[in-house]
Amino acid sequence: MTATIIDGRATAQRLHARITARVAELAVSHSLVPGLAVILVGEDPASQVYVGNKTRQAQAAGIRHFDHRLPIGATTQELIDLVKALNAREDVHGILVQLPLPPGVDDSAVLAAIDPSKDADGFHAINVGRLSLGEPATVPCTPLGCLSLIRQVIPVMSGKRALVIGRSNIVGKPMAQLLLQNDCTVTIAHSRTRDLPQLCAESDILVAAIGRPRAIAGAWIRPGAVVIDVGINRIDDGSGKSRLVGDVDYDSAVLRAGAITPVPGGVGPMTIACLLLNTLNAAQRIRF
Ligand code: GUN
Repeated sequence: MTATIIDGRATAQRLHARITARVAELAVSHSLVPGLAVILVGEDPASQVYVGNKTRQAQAAGIRHFDHRLPIGATTQELIDLVKALNAREDVHGILVQLPLPPGVDDSAVLAAIDPSKDADGFHAINVGRLSLGEPATVPCTPLGCLSLIRQVIPVMSGKRALVIGRSNIVGKPMAQLLLQNDCTVTIAHSRTRDLPQLCAESDILVAAIGRPRAIAGAWIRPGAVVIDVGINRIDDGSGKSRLVGDVDYDSAVLRAGAITPVPGGVGPMTIACLLLNTLNAAQRIRF
């Protein structure tokens, strides 16, 4: 058996097209242009690439973006002051602080300063709490994108056994909440988990988000399972060139899974499309 390949790029393009159309409608109906402010501190090359992709795609959808690049030495207070100034602006509907912030900056304090209604990433404690209570919340972009990809192949998840590997605030924990809301039986595995292969073998849905290249072996996967690979790891391919691989060993997993996301072209494009969706939704929530 060879798995169905879940095409995140094509799914993200369809979502992007719907967002673009809605943004154009809002301009005509309400003279409203959704605005996204992006804050990047320091020169981390990966963060620079991510932020560049986010702002480019926002622009392509007709969303106005406001870039704030701060030097590595920026203080917690400077960031809080910037966030507060963005909270007060009527033309900014979504605010994103690219993580990780440099050592020495209190990222919790910076995220807490974001107006929860402008929290494009869904990282504010109010949105985290609302999600865990099952109340309407802004949901972090990567798990939101993963859920949409899972739905493509499992429209009704009720009763499925789901394994989330990784317990980060950005992916693992909110992913587990979303799967729970969809009536899955959810297990969260992490670096201290014992017998990961056995847990994988029992799971109908497996979401890998640990940031370790090809750590999940194909032989562990339950035949027919849906595998969502959040990992984006750059490795040396042996000939001096680098390439991107996921957290799952794709070549062996594709032979056992029922459906699988590739890397690149799986979860990555969905994350950005969901960021634009969160920004659009924040703009649409304002009272006209
Ligand atoms: N760093 C890694 N992933 C993310 C994300 O989804 N949002 C933000 N703000 N920073 C990140």
